Amino acid sequence: MTESDPKIVELRARRALGRMSGGQDRIDRQHKAGKLTARERLEILLDPGSFHEVDAFVIQRGRDFGMDKPENQFPGDSVVTGWGTIDGRLVYVYSQDFTVLGGSLSEVHAQKIVKIMSMAMKTGAPVIGLNDSGGARIQEGVVSLDGYASIFLQNTLASGVIPQLSAIMGPCAGGAVYSPALTDFIFMVKDTSYMFVTGPDVIKQVTHEEVTKEELGGAITHNSVSGVSHLAADSEEDCLFLLRELLSYIPQNNMEDPPFVPSKDDPLRTEDALDTIVPDNPNKPYDMKELIRLIVDDKRFFEIHEHYAQNIIVGFARLGGHSVGIVANQPAVLAGVLDIDASEKAARFIRFCDAFNIPIITFEDVPGFMPGVAQEHGGIIRSGAKLLYAYCEATVAKITVVTRKAYGGAYCVMNSRPIRSDLNLAWPTAEFAVMGPDGAVNIIFRRELAEAEDAETLRAQLVADYRARFANPYVAASRGDIDDVIEPRDTRPRLINALEMLRNKRDSNPPRKHGNMPL
Ligand code: HXC
Repeated sequence: MTESDPKIVELRARRALGRMSGGQDRIDRQHKAGKLTARERLEILLDPGSFHEVDAFVIQRGRDFGMDKPENQFPGDSVVTGWGTIDGRLVYVYSQDFTVLGGSLSEVHAQKIVKIMSMAMKTGAPVIGLNDSGGARIQEGVVSLDGYASIFLQNTLASGVIPQLSAIMGPCAGGAVYSPALTDFIFMVKDTSYMFVTGPDVIKQVTHEEVTKEELGGAITHNSVSGVSHLAADSEEDCLFLLRELLSYIPQNNMEDPPFVPSKDDPLRTEDALDTIVPDNPNKPYDMKELIRLIVDDKRFFEIHEHYAQNIIVGFARLGGHSVGIVANQPAVLAGVLDIDASEKAARFIRFCDAFNIPIITFEDVPGFMPGVAQEHGGIIRSGAKLLYAYCEATVAKITVVTRKAYGGAYCVMNSRPIRSDLNLAWPTAEFAVMGPDGAVNIIFRRELAEAEDAETLRAQLVADYRARFANPYVAASRGDIDDVIEPRDTRPRLINALEMLRNKRDSNPPRKHGNMPL
């Protein structure tokens, strides 16, 4: 066939029509709203020229409310689907096309997404969803709702098998939010994206609260208040680059290891600054993120949930070229205490790492669980148990470095030796105790202090005694609760060596349908 063959001409014309989505006017409107089109987004996300579209000729089947008219028939309907590569690795993608009927989800829109998801499951590759949709196709009624439900099932079946990433790049409302919510990571774009189950108008009617769309469900809200979203991007381009970077830390599926990315950063590099990072005064804060950056390859730490529950830090990095998931208490925020939000944030991250064979490094400086009626009534027992459960069930390589406080129940939770940690290291500044020295003295010497003439001098002496006894790593080391006390400067080479030692670690949980995590 030559280029001028009518059949080729027709094919090209049909394809060109599909690429025009909802037409130039609507494309212009999309740009005016500060948004890229579905196809422009894919061009930035994927390696150049790697996108292969499927179902470009699919037509929606709605017949009610004028949907059968030619002006409502758009080749491909309101979502662009297919596969491509990111850094040469296969990914499946869907990109909702707001210029076609507001990106609303029709029966065929759902079928297209389910099709690429099942291809992704069969071939073991991640799925990335770019969401920009007015929700269920109103003209289709329950058919559209069934479409959503079929996607939710796929999301659930794919969970823990292939990584699923969602970017919110426009509206995402009603039950539509539950597909992203079932995926592993949600990225939102500042100012142009929002997520909510019921919008401001319904809220006003029902609870009489007045709230803007942005305050209710914008990127800042979901990244800092609700924790629904894991990353907030400054722009769509930024969001698409962040998606690419996140994938570089994770494997294609649960049967693979994460990619090895060689670095020029010397695996034997020692770091003098670590020797002085923990202040002499045990109540003084320091920045755990700085500590992490000094240790990992090229000082690059890809933080997840940066703006949420900042008393705990989670994210990805590499050590000696291998991906690790990092969980760290942050003494600079609420003294690094564990509360409801921090427990849930870390638990979810640990479960992701465990599902996808990413070793977990824990940097510990934790004074305990957050006291308070609000925390108790909010269910800190259940939330803390989630974190404990996540650490206990994880079978990937698990290493802990105690930099300072390891107190009370929080000590047990933060990957202590008895919950199947593989290696526990402590800095000389580490303190292991049931609680801080002041609290401990107040309880065990209550009577002596009440009867003492100079209670303050006695208290200071007792606190000093208690600290000398327990506030050091050597009692724990003498029992083998920690494996070694190391010089802070040596932390990077020690961790890289430990990861190498654990490379072939095998461990498993008892056979069962599934555990009953305290949700
Ligand atoms: C069909 C829709 C649509 C929808 C938008 N459009 N949403 N068509 N079904 N759900 C169409 C509009 O008619 C319009 O068509 C085009 O998309 C762009 O919409 P605009 O309103 O002009 O855009 P904008 O001003 O940017 O407002 C966007 C919007 C608004 C905020 C999303 O369109 C909106 O409120 N839509 C309805 C949202 C909604 O209630 N969805 C149902 C949620 S419940 P033309 O031809 O003019 O370009 C739900 C349940 C899921 O989704 C349950 C799962 C279990």
